[in-house]
Parts: sequence; C-alpha cells; structure tokens
Amino acid sequence: MIMASTLSGAFAPPTAVELAEIARLVRESAGIVIGEGKASMVQSRLSKRLRALGLADYRSYLEHLQSPEGAEESGRMLSALTTNVTNFFRENHHFQQLRRDVLPPLIARARAGGRVRIWSAGCSSGQEPYSIAMLLCDLAEDAPTLDIRILATDIDPEMTAIGRAARYATALAESIPPAYAQQFLDATDDGVVLRPSVRGLVGFRELNLHATWPMRGTFDVIFCRNVAIYFDKQTQDALWSRFEAALAPDGWLFMGHSERLPADRPTRLVTAGITSYRLPAAGPDAEKRPWR
Ligand SMILES: C[S@@+](CC[C@H](N)C(=O)[O-])C[C@H]1O[C@@H](n2cnc3c(N)ncnc32)[C@H](O)[C@@H]1O
Repeated sequence: MIMASTLSGAFAPPTAVELAEIARLVRESAGIVIGEGKASMVQSRLSKRLRALGLADYRSYLEHLQSPEGAEESGRMLSALTTNVTNFFRENHHFQQLRRDVLPPLIARARAGGRVRIWSAGCSSGQEPYSIAMLLCDLAEDAPTLDIRILATDIDPEMTAIGRAARYATALAESIPPAYAQQFLDATDDGVVLRPSVRGLVGFRELNLHATWPMRGTFDVIFCRNVAIYFDKQTQDALWSRFEAALAPDGWLFMGHSERLPADRPTRLVTAGITSYRLPAAGPDAEKRPWR
C-alpha cells in the first residue's frame, strides 16, 4: 500500500472502475445514486478521508473498506458523500400548511389526552424538526407538557450530533422569523442555541432509511424532504410505500420541492398541497386508488 505521506500534491480522481465500485457500495448501503460523471465530486468529498487514513489513492481506499476496519469507514464515507444542505423554515409553504391545517387538530387531540407523533426523516443538522417544534410551541405553549414528540433521524451521525447540540451560527438562524427568534433562541458566544422547550420536543436518532426501521407505532406527520431525490427509482418507490404504511389514518406526508409520488403507482395517498399528501381516514372508502 502506498502511503500518502510519501507523495506530494493532490490525489488523482478515482478511475472509472474505482468510481463504479464506490457508487456500488453507496447504492447498496444507502440507496444513494452516484452517477458516472461524479468523479470530481467524489474526489473532492473523499480526499479528506484518504488524507486522514494516510492512503494515496482510491484503490487503497477500496481495499481499506473491504478490511476488518472498513465497516466504520463506510459510515464516514457516507457522511462525506451525502448532501446535508438544509435551513430553518425551508420551503416555508409547508410550515404555513402545518400552522393552518395540520397542527391545530393534532394539538387539540393531544390536549384531550391523545398521542401525536411527527417524523423528520433525513433531518440533516436539525433545522427542519426544530422549525416544526417552534411552530408547535408557538401554537401551544403547553406543547412540552403534552404527548407530542418529533422523531428526527438521519443516516449521518455528524448531522444528528449537531441537531442534538441545537447550537447554530448566527447566520444560519437568519431564516427564523424574528418573533420566533425572540421566543425560542438564546445567544451564545458564537451563535444561538434553541431553548429547552423546543429542544425537549425533538429526539434525534441515527437511521438509514434504506435499512430496517426499528420504530413501532404510526406517525401523524412525516417530513421526508430533499432526501429521496438522491435515491434510485426502486429505492424511492419502496420508500413511499413504507411511509404510507407508517402513516396513521388522516396522516400527512411532506416531500421536497422536486420530489413527487409517481403517477403510475397505486396508493391511498391523495394530494393535499404543494408536494404534500394525505392518507384518508380509515373506513370503507379507504381502498387503494391510483394517485392523481
Ligand atoms: C439535503 S438534506 C435534507 C435535509 C432536510 N430534510 C431539508 O429538506 O432541509 C438530505 C439528508 O438526507 C440524509 N440521507 C441521505 N441518505 C439517507 C439514507 N439512506 N437514510 C437516511 N438519511 C439519509 C443526508 O445525510 C442528509 O442529511
């Protein structure tokens, strides 16, 4: 094995064969597609891993991935290759719909002693679940005392760790409406931190959507936005079916701006807004019908 420290300069990009091998591993483990034209993206994102491991080229890196120490590195490789772009109140029309249509009846149910479960699947560094939590706390000051929980999951442990810490640079908090910033943020030496009332509603877990899901029970709302776009068609289709099965009757599914349920797929979900869908209430009319 050639050590990087014996060489100077940048790493050569992966060859077509190496790129195909990396793409196969990522697709098998996470369902994520890396196309043939992505050699320079892979190079720029993985070169820090080669450097950290003291490896000189992608052939050595692939050998390392197959070695007994490779399991841990596969997680790091996925972290490096996933796109984690997010923002507070991103695609704000979904939060308007939550405020207007979705959350008020769920809060009423929780106040009557019911259970409400919301899932932010592919939550990145936490801005999406915390935006939902801020809305909840704004609509219901008593939300922290009710049986309402937001599960926030991501494949990338570096992202869930940021979410758990709930600390963000000031610039990242600029998309939070000023009234919410005043109610729910405290200043720190180098940015802001979410207040405990908001943090307490959100629980972060590491979860690969392409693997088995350990959760029991159904969800009233699922956000999976700007995640499936990186998956192959087969993984996307399987994911929509699994979300449908994980939704409670009357439950809501929110997708990202460039994601849609395919028109040829039988589903009980009906369109309920811009890239939002709803499962009908349980009952005789709830049989499968083609999505429109
Ligand atoms: C572009 S971010 C979207 C964040 C947020 N949902 C939003 O719309 O702002 C995509 C996230 O999906 C996560 N992701 C990618 N593949 C995944 C998988 N197989 N299982 C779970 N999360 C995955 C990435 O780690 C990343 O944090």
